[in-house]
Amino acid sequence: MISLLIVDDISSTRENLQKLLSFEDDIEVVGTAADGREGLEAAHRLQPDIVLTDVNMPLMDGIQLTETLASELPTSPVIIMSVQGERDYLRRAMQAGAREFLIKPFSHDELVAAIRRVYQLEQKKGTFIAKSMPVQPAAPVAPRSSPPAEIILVFSGKGGVGKTLIATNLAVALADQSGGRVALVDLDLQFGDIGVMLNLDHSRSITELVDGTGGLDADSVAEVLASGPGGVKVLLAPISPELADLVTAEHIRLLMAELRRSFDYVIVDSSTHLTEFNLEVIEIAQRVLVVTALTIPAIKDAKLTLKVLESLSVDPETTLLVVNRVDGYADFNRESIEQSLRVPVAVQIPHDPKTVGDAITRGAPFVTMHPDSEVSRAMRELVARITPEQVAAGTPEPSADRKKRKGIFGR
Ligand SMILES: Nc1ncnc2c1ncn2[C@@H]1O[C@H](COP(=O)(O)OP(=O)(O)OP(=O)(O)O)[C@@H](O)[C@H]1O
Ligand SMILES: [Mg+2]
Repeated sequence: MISLLIVDDISSTRENLQKLLSFEDDIEVVGTAADGREGLEAAHRLQPDIVLTDVNMPLMDGIQLTETLASELPTSPVIIMSVQGERDYLRRAMQAGAREFLIKPFSHDELVAAIRRVYQLEQKKGTFIAKSMPVQPAAPVAPRSSPPAEIILVFSGKGGVGKTLIATNLAVALADQSGGRVALVDLDLQFGDIGVMLNLDHSRSITELVDGTGGLDADSVAEVLASGPGGVKVLLAPISPELADLVTAEHIRLLMAELRRSFDYVIVDSSTHLTEFNLEVIEIAQRVLVVTALTIPAIKDAKLTLKVLESLSVDPETTLLVVNRVDGYADFNRESIEQSLRVPVAVQIPHDPKTVGDAITRGAPFVTMHPDSEVSRAMRELVARITPEQVAAGTPEPSADRKKRKGIFGR
């Protein structure tokens, strides 16, 4: 029996939901509450298996409730209900730790399926086991199982600047340095190159998740992930460009939510251009790496990209500017780029055709093929920017320049 608490400030909605769910043998509504604060109190008292909450409510909204429950009562996972168009809520709800989202109006089937899905997933994760243990009144609250993954989008306004090369090597270096679970997603849906760059078997790809034969649940997603180097799990782009048409922004949203639950980091390689898919990921990403090269068109496009990110209200603190193919012959240097873009350069990756070319030809990341190269060192520096705690632990050695910049751009 799945015990459920309904939190919604509109009494007719609460009643309708209760009525809808009364037909289900395996779901029992154990309580209702009219706002977040009441919901929090009821959740502590009733310890429901699932909390189903609205977003917009007086006193404490659904996002705050989700956040509080995630830390105070992790044995009661949350499903959020919101009205179509509240995309910002969606992003915030995910960050707060909601397990599932229902866009109003939703059908009875969708509601029941979401409740069962969350319950089954949490049951697998052992979430409810803690509840059946004897409660120690003064015991500290159990910590949240694991925080949702950090989504890192690798983006550029100019093609061919090295997004795919950086995304693949970053994923492998990040898995190695952080010891965390890393997923790599090829969102260049028409002409994705990750498969060839990592020499992966292309028999499974995102197509299998969206062609109507499977679902986007944890098991289906896990099944189509290819095993890349260093334990990185890779979601490949469709094998042929026309298959990209099957993918919708909704697929991407659900997919990202699913990956966030199973991994510590999700690296997303993107296509150039502001496609709806890239926008979807920009909205939910915790980091955006803006890749540029030292050419006038690339710098111009990086400037436009940064402007677009600003207009999308992306926190500049979460954006990292990565300059690729740095050599001594370009018209720009670090200072002139920073002056032109008004953003500090996070990491410079040298132009090294020999190392890079060799790795690509062999279908392997250069960070494992040539770990002592300067390009690999730069990738490790990029990892350190993303996981500052690794720097604190002593790997790798931060450059003097980065030390100087810490505080302005670093987190
Ligand atoms: N640091 C580097 N040193 C030498 N060559 C590089 C470097 N970075 C990228 N390249 C070269 O540039 C090519 C393009 O890189 P990559 O495919 O990663 O770019 P991209 O931004 O993903 O391109 P697209 O926009 O087509 O997806 C690589 O195949 C490689 O040959
Ligand atoms: Mg690419």
